[in-house]
Amino acid sequence: MNEQELMTFVGKGVGDVAAMVNGALVALGDRLGLYVAMRDAGPVTAEELARRTDTAERYVREWLAAQAASGFLRYLVDGRYVLPAEHAVVLTDETSPVCLIGAFQLASATVQSTDRLVEAFRTGQGIGWGEHHHELFPGCERFFAPGYRNHLVTTWIPALDGADTALRAGAAVADVGCGHGVSTLLMAQAYPTATVTGYDPHPDSVVTARKRAAEAGLADRTRFEVAAATDYPGRYDLITFCDSLHDGATRRPPPATRAPRCDRAVGPWSSNRWRAIGSRRTSTRSVRRTTASPRSCAPRTRSPRAPPR
Ligand SMILES: C[S@@+](CC[C@H](N)C(=O)[O-])C[C@H]1O[C@@H](n2cnc3c(N)ncnc32)[C@H](O)[C@@H]1O
Repeated sequence: MNEQELMTFVGKGVGDVAAMVNGALVALGDRLGLYVAMRDAGPVTAEELARRTDTAERYVREWLAAQAASGFLRYLVDGRYVLPAEHAVVLTDETSPVCLIGAFQLASATVQSTDRLVEAFRTGQGIGWGEHHHELFPGCERFFAPGYRNHLVTTWIPALDGADTALRAGAAVADVGCGHGVSTLLMAQAYPTATVTGYDPHPDSVVTARKRAAEAGLADRTRFEVAAATDYPGRYDLITFCDSLHDGATRRPPPATRAPRCDRAVGPWSSNRWRAIGSRRTSTRSVRRTTASPRSCAPRTRSPRAPPR
């Protein structure tokens, strides 16, 4: 036994445990509005923060100390804590492409599926998207939305030859696996004459997407329907799979007709090209992928609700 290697790995394990617990504390702080209350507020004591957020000072005191120890907040020695401006962007500014707060909500939700995953690993059965912890859906929306808001209609669509022009001329778009519809609504907003339809097999997500459309004043210009990548109807000039192409995958090597239906595109833009553009986005995505796959992506493709192969 190499003693040095043993202790190095113990150190790594302890660090990962701390990161895991801290991630849960970040999700908790987000849920309670603690970061938002600290943003632009300058240094605060536990008592002040508790008062502002209608929380109990004793708990907030522990949370602040843990967050400072993890480097998320700064302790000023006089009993006050501050959220640095740069950290505030990452933890609270959902218009910024570097905002990560949704990732904590998403990760925390996947951890809460552990009981289901133990069963799935043993039986080989899948776990449908809708069977995950309820925080997964808003977490997913909040994690991906900053990227879409900053790149979808300004960079990604214009990178597809002729797509921007076609959309301005009123093209028909299917946004497959649209979730809560952030990408769908951004396209509808940017291209008022385009016909944009969002499809998702998870009924609750479709209900939320319709609600988001109504809130954005876009209900009369968008449609959201329950359908999977293999069975959505119609033909389109542009078909988008925004972080959902892998969700349309199936269990065994499929006949071509059971693959996600990119063949419904009458325009020249293939989903592979789309995915290539999307995957250039950020390095955080590749980190997320490797850990998310065994917990949520792979189980989903093995779910009986996923298209059969
Ligand atoms: C990672 S989420 C992305 C959601 C949304 N596009 C976004 O970026 O916020 C994957 C989405 O794919 C959907 N999905 C799961 N299985 C699918 C299938 N077979 N066909 C199409 N979409 C599917 C899920 O319901 C979920 O909304």
